[in-house]
Amino acid sequence: MEYANPIARRDFLRIVATGAAGATLAACGAEAPSEARERRRILLAYFSRPGENYHYGGRRNLRVGNTEVLARTLRQRIACDVHRIQAEDPYPAEYEATVQRNVREQEADARPALVRPPTSLERYDVVILASPIWNVRPPMIMSTFAERYDFSGKTVYPVTTHAMSGLGDAREVYAEACEGARLGRGLSVRGERVREADDEVDAWIRRTRIDR
Ligand SMILES: Cc1cc2nc3c(=O)[nH]c(=O)nc-3n(C[C@H](O)[C@H](O)[C@H](O)COP(=O)(O)O)c2cc1C
Repeated sequence: MEYANPIARRDFLRIVATGAAGATLAACGAEAPSEARERRRILLAYFSRPGENYHYGGRRNLRVGNTEVLARTLRQRIACDVHRIQAEDPYPAEYEATVQRNVREQEADARPALVRPPTSLERYDVVILASPIWNVRPPMIMSTFAERYDFSGKTVYPVTTHAMSGLGDAREVYAEACEGARLGRGLSVRGERVREADDEVDAWIRRTRIDR
């Protein structure tokens, strides 16, 4: 999916609005409300599998998984805590074996066990859930993770890397799994281009205003 360039007019309006609010507060001699200054607390939780993977119709051995590369780009730009979601039974390095295991897990509606998940997400206002797309949805382990927590009052942003499926069913999966969450605009980046995704990521950050 392509993301348009930032909407300059919206940025302009925001700056004007901020300026106007500042002037009013200064005139009243009031303090800006603390919530206006407090940043939202963000968790970036991601799953990524290094090893043999799809690459423009062929295969390539990835030392670092595509979603992990994207997670690194995101954490450089957004003040956030990061949690790497890992399977207790690690996925194979081979592509075909992973495809087969994933098909089995999808057919069984499995919830693969997690390695040391956070005990609570209470302290976060925003959770970014990032993963590859496997057979048109996030890997089942993303459901294991999402179903553990109460997302009331939180915003969840679906982030995917993919070969051609974009966000796939990520929105639907997280709408069901993340109880109480509001779903924000998703970001999907083609796996093969994940190292050239800075502009896409920046545009998404500006449009979602996730860091405000
Ligand atoms: C088991 C498996 C299933 C996949 N299924 C899809 C798919 O349905 N649609 C798609 O666009 N890409 C699919 N891909 C490609 C991955 O989504 C893509 O390469 C992604 O960037 C891998 O991220 P990772 O390196 O972080 O695991 C699949 C890859 C694997 C290993």
